[in-house]
Amino acid sequence: MHTVTVVGTQWGDEGKGKVTDYLAANAEVVVRYQGGNNAGHTIKFDGKKFALHLIPSGVFNESTINILGNGMVINPLALFEEMDMLEKANVSTKSIMVSNRAHVILSYHQTMDKLFEALRSDEKRVGTTAKGIGPAYMEKASRQGLRMCDFVDEVAFSEHLDQHLPYVNVLLKTFGEETIDKDALLKRYKPYQLRLKPYVQDTARILYDAIAADKKVLFEGAQGTMLCTDHGTYPYVTSSSPTAASVALNTGISPKSIQTVVGVSKAYTTRVGGGVFATEFTGALADQIRTQGNEFGTTTGRPRRIGWIDTVVLRHALRTNGLSSLAVMLLDVLKGVHPLKICVAYKLDGDMIDYVPASIKVYERCEPVYIELDGFSEDISGVTSYDKLPGNARQYIEKIEDLVGVSASIVSVGPDRKQTIIRESFFK
Ligand code: IMP
Repeated sequence: MHTVTVVGTQWGDEGKGKVTDYLAANAEVVVRYQGGNNAGHTIKFDGKKFALHLIPSGVFNESTINILGNGMVINPLALFEEMDMLEKANVSTKSIMVSNRAHVILSYHQTMDKLFEALRSDEKRVGTTAKGIGPAYMEKASRQGLRMCDFVDEVAFSEHLDQHLPYVNVLLKTFGEETIDKDALLKRYKPYQLRLKPYVQDTARILYDAIAADKKVLFEGAQGTMLCTDHGTYPYVTSSSPTAASVALNTGISPKSIQTVVGVSKAYTTRVGGGVFATEFTGALADQIRTQGNEFGTTTGRPRRIGWIDTVVLRHALRTNGLSSLAVMLLDVLKGVHPLKICVAYKLDGDMIDYVPASIKVYERCEPVYIELDGFSEDISGVTSYDKLPGNARQYIEKIEDLVGVSASIVSVGPDRKQTIIRESFFK
């Protein structure tokens, strides 16, 4: 068996796209297992730049199968927009398969997302991406959702709307919004329904066979552990679980098939949207890091909040995901930052604690406890081997390894594929 899972250890945007892109080069199957087009990463190579939101990173290799798993919520319009963008750039999309059990995001999910957010007070706003993710998962959990197998079946889709639109329209009316006309909706989605049909498959069976045949399979997480509905900073989270534990449920494979788990972390921390962020700081240094790291959302363009690396969070991610190693990203961005701070614990009401509190109210009272290390001033963006990194950069990485309890298998020093220091081989 050869499976590798890539998960985010923080609040998303850790640079998973670059890691999955690197690993995808040797994978025979790449699988997205949760979320939807709330995710987004930019892949850069050979002077080209691609923003992916739904499609797995393996799409750039002709022979790789790319699966959108059953745990995803998929907006067909967004999927085809992405496929068209790739086709225009001469990237084939023939390798894409969509799980027949994945859920569909329709226009009214996006409307509901905005309406539900608007109901929250300013300080309680989640700051969702407004892509309809939460409402689509809500309907899945309340057994009102629409699955791909039914979306591409004309009769089943029509029957679904007969059952479901009255509920949607009551909601929309309550909010003073325009209601949905069934025929207009059917007409709007017809071209997508027809185009999507050949891509919809029983991907769990395909994956089972791939794993049984010893194929190299890469599971690509979206968002990060701290945005997990169960293990993140609830309710300031997304509506799915980005953890390694979620892979089995959300792709239909056995939990026993999850082997190597790479936890991706920035060399610092960022967060978009609302919610607690213990190591956050603002001011000139935050602005410098935001600019150097291009810390603006790929999906929404929002400026990201900036903070020091937090090893309480990383140890939480280690325990939750069973991390095999870390991939430390964007180390080059910390050039010229003196000193470098690492959060090692929290102080809560006078006591030191080493865990992420479940209660947001309690978490908000936590103060980060830092150690400080000397920074590095050298440009490291051209360094290709670990021992060529400046001593202070290595000291920083090794301190994080010590504090988290796993090694850094990958260190990234720039956005390009080539700017990656690999210290361990995967898919041997
Ligand atoms: P939703 O997933 O659009 O419902 O948004 C819920 C929360 O997750 C918000 O705080 C978003 O900013 C955050 N979020 C969702 N997707 C991503 C992502 O890919 N990167 C970072 N944050 C995300």
